[in-house]
Amino acid sequence: MNSPVMQGLNLQAPPQARNARLLAWVADMVALCKPDDIHWCDGSESEYQQFCERLVESGTFKRLNPALRPNSFLARSDPSDVARVEDRTFICSEHKADAGPTNHWVAPAVMRATLQPLFDGCMRGRTMYVVPFSMGPLGSPIAHIGVELSDSPYVAVNMKIMTRMGSAVLDVLGTDGDFVPCVHTVGAPLQPGQQDVAWPCNKTKYIVHYPESREIWSYGSGYGGNALLGKKCFALRIASTMGRAEAAQGSAGWLAEHMLILGVTSPAGKKYHMAAAFPSACGKTNFAMLIPPPALAGWTVSTIGDDIAWIKPGADGRLYAINPEAGYFGVAPGTNTLTNPNCMASLTHDAIFTNVALTDDGDVWWEGMGPAPEHCIDWQGREWTPAIARDQAEGGKPRAAAHPNARFTVAATNNPALDEAWDSPAGVPIDAFIFGGRRSTTVPLVTEARNWVEGVYAAATMGSETTAAAAGQQGVVRRDPFAMLPFMGYHMGDYFQHWLDLGARLQAGGAVLPRIFTTNWFRKGADGQFIWPGYGENMRVLQWMVERIEGRARGNEHVTGISPSYDEICWDGLDFSRAQFEQVMGTDAPSMQAELALHSELFHQLKDRLPTVLEETKTAMEGRLAAA
Ligand code: OXD
Ligand code: MN
Repeated sequence: MNSPVMQGLNLQAPPQARNARLLAWVADMVALCKPDDIHWCDGSESEYQQFCERLVESGTFKRLNPALRPNSFLARSDPSDVARVEDRTFICSEHKADAGPTNHWVAPAVMRATLQPLFDGCMRGRTMYVVPFSMGPLGSPIAHIGVELSDSPYVAVNMKIMTRMGSAVLDVLGTDGDFVPCVHTVGAPLQPGQQDVAWPCNKTKYIVHYPESREIWSYGSGYGGNALLGKKCFALRIASTMGRAEAAQGSAGWLAEHMLILGVTSPAGKKYHMAAAFPSACGKTNFAMLIPPPALAGWTVSTIGDDIAWIKPGADGRLYAINPEAGYFGVAPGTNTLTNPNCMASLTHDAIFTNVALTDDGDVWWEGMGPAPEHCIDWQGREWTPAIARDQAEGGKPRAAAHPNARFTVAATNNPALDEAWDSPAGVPIDAFIFGGRRSTTVPLVTEARNWVEGVYAAATMGSETTAAAAGQQGVVRRDPFAMLPFMGYHMGDYFQHWLDLGARLQAGGAVLPRIFTTNWFRKGADGQFIWPGYGENMRVLQWMVERIEGRARGNEHVTGISPSYDEICWDGLDFSRAQFEQVMGTDAPSMQAELALHSELFHQLKDRLPTVLEETKTAMEGRLAAA
């Protein structure tokens, strides 16, 4: 404790910080991490501007041309710190069996002993930012509070956009409110006089969750879900355990899901809400901001959330969802005025971009945004021209100017399609769940489950080709149950049971459960191209879902559920032939058999806690397939 500021542990806490547990914890963390200074974030606009200025001065941020992109910034990360690190992510429950076979587990005592020396002095030479945040509208019965301690001002400004952050949260916390403690360090202490780098981080990384004591400890990365601890760490991994723990105490519990939430309003003015789970970088933001094609212009889609949903039964037995976040941390490459005009409009001002390219006029560019500039600076600060990109092709593709997992951070309130109830403390009632994997083959464009159990089965056995959102190999099919594989805080088999129990309980109380659909926008033809046009055209599939809910579309039953016939989809304004439809819908018996064999592999992996009803559902499907 050599800084005068820290002497006697002067925490510099503001008067609103009256929570004894919070103050004691911050004091402990200051003693451990040994920052040079402490800053309690008040969440004000002036504080945000001040932090951004500081980030510009330190070289982490470059201010974009204010005439083109007002109040917006570009950050370039260290090339080794560009994505979530799933192989460094740990669920440290007391018992290994409770983390389950899909999570990395280390005994809590062992992990604490490992982290202790890493965190000791980890913030030397830096400021500790105390970031109080609410996941969900302040004071909502579905919301929860977290406090992140971070030595990264980049994290502080991103948390300001991504959450309801600042002093108002301390007011809600009061003297004895509950919060999830989240400690984050880039793991790069500075020696006296040592020059900082633009993106400090450490090659050693740990993203650690203790589900029983509800703590998050993150070491070594400054990027995205590794560092913005409200998002994947709290709102999915820890929150999933919280929702189930409440069920164990006798209520129905609740669900923390990797889902966007959207409103769909029909030409007749009837509004439905859908929550949709897709694996990372599979177009969740595009789907949440979808603009119907002109031929379906009577329909509107509005956004409640683009990535995470917290879902709780209401007094009427229906499921209500809130978006715990307040902003979007989306994948930039591929986003353009055709694929997602609402998103492009959201990004015109007050946005942070990370790992995109910088154009000569001080604006941003990424692959898929539009015509390539003749020259720009790539995400690593290197000269880039189309010719250089071709000369330095990587893996047969021109060298990308933006990293494939380059991101934007922007407030939800920038979205022109924002739903009027996006901030409603009560949430919105869910009419349907949608689960969509990225599969080039086998899985039809859309299928409705015949009942809740079959829907849980479909979600549980979802497969998807991996993307750049996580470090590691891309394009490999892996089972990604509920699109939650990297985000589950406990045993996947127990999670399936929680979904089954919740449905059974609500149904027993007389509630009509949401329908469950699976989609696959990603079937490819023999030429390797996507067959389904996707984006706004997905409205046609949403329309069929609404017609199912309203009892107007019959569909065709098949092995895994009910799908539309060609004539049940509205094709106005789209040239999509019966033959193409067959290509995105059809599947053959050998492919289905191979698919069911992959489900068996997952079930075998989870066998110690797999609900038997899911095995029975598979047996029924195998029977239908044999009889077909
Ligand atoms: C995300 C992800 O950042 O899923 O949302 O990786
Ligand atoms: Mn996500």
